[in-house]
Amino acid sequence: MTDQFTLAEAAAQSVLQRTPLRPRIGLVLGSGLGSFADSLSEATRIPFHEIPSFPRSTAIGHAGQIVIGKAGMVPVAVMQGRVHLYEGYSAQQVAFPMRVFGRMGIRAVILTNAAGGINLTYKQGALVVLSDHINLQGTNPLAGPNDDRFGLRFPDMTHAYDKSYRTMAREEARKLDMTLHEGVYAALLGPSYETPAEIRYLRTVGADLVGMSTAFEVIAARHMGIKVLAISCVTNMAAGILDQPLSHEEVMETGERVKTSLEALLRAVLPRIENDPGIGPQKT
Ligand code: HPA
Repeated sequence: MTDQFTLAEAAAQSVLQRTPLRPRIGLVLGSGLGSFADSLSEATRIPFHEIPSFPRSTAIGHAGQIVIGKAGMVPVAVMQGRVHLYEGYSAQQVAFPMRVFGRMGIRAVILTNAAGGINLTYKQGALVVLSDHINLQGTNPLAGPNDDRFGLRFPDMTHAYDKSYRTMAREEARKLDMTLHEGVYAALLGPSYETPAEIRYLRTVGADLVGMSTAFEVIAARHMGIKVLAISCVTNMAAGILDQPLSHEEVMETGERVKTSLEALLRAVLPRIENDPGIGPQKT
């Protein structure tokens, strides 16, 4: 069996050979939040199924392509859609795109997702910058033999969500006159939404938001030393908070409504991350 490193390297080369751009920033756009990728200039679109070893997205609302292009002056690689553990993929498969990003030379990622709001100060449609996560998905993309070419056996997760990027996001949100909360994301397997009792449990253990993605990507990114900014869109209040059932339609509708402000925030933050000396010199 070919190892993950070799597969990620081959996938990265197959993406890079289709564009002259050499982005250092990667983005992942969650459910209903994919339209940012449509606005890029000099864009090359590569469906996931054209990238060797890449997992295919089966979720509704996830287009399933990588778009390499420019957001203003900033070259970016954008995953429009992602795969999840609940689709039947392994934790390693879910994290594979991050490894491809790493081999492409990506040094910072902005991960977005749709999430249920557990913190009662949040409202539907709120944007929340993540300060930490609780991985309750029952597995880890780094389980199994460690490949030292990616990173350490026991990577630190103390500063997984870069503090200076969180500050940048808050500053840019303030300039845009937007409210940006900060919170802890609990990642669950899904695909069923949580029960009200599970939401009370998650609140007790310190979660502000709940979703079915992101944690594995953060773990794989940090393993490779890629810096992380993550922003959740509260597409719904979590189960049992309002006396109404949850639905994927509601998640998609709220994503649709909020994506304009999220896009404005992404555009404002990107040049600041591009100027971060911590992500190394620009490659030409
Ligand atoms: N729970 C889990 N995942 C989600 C939710 C939720 O309430 N909303 C959007 N993704």
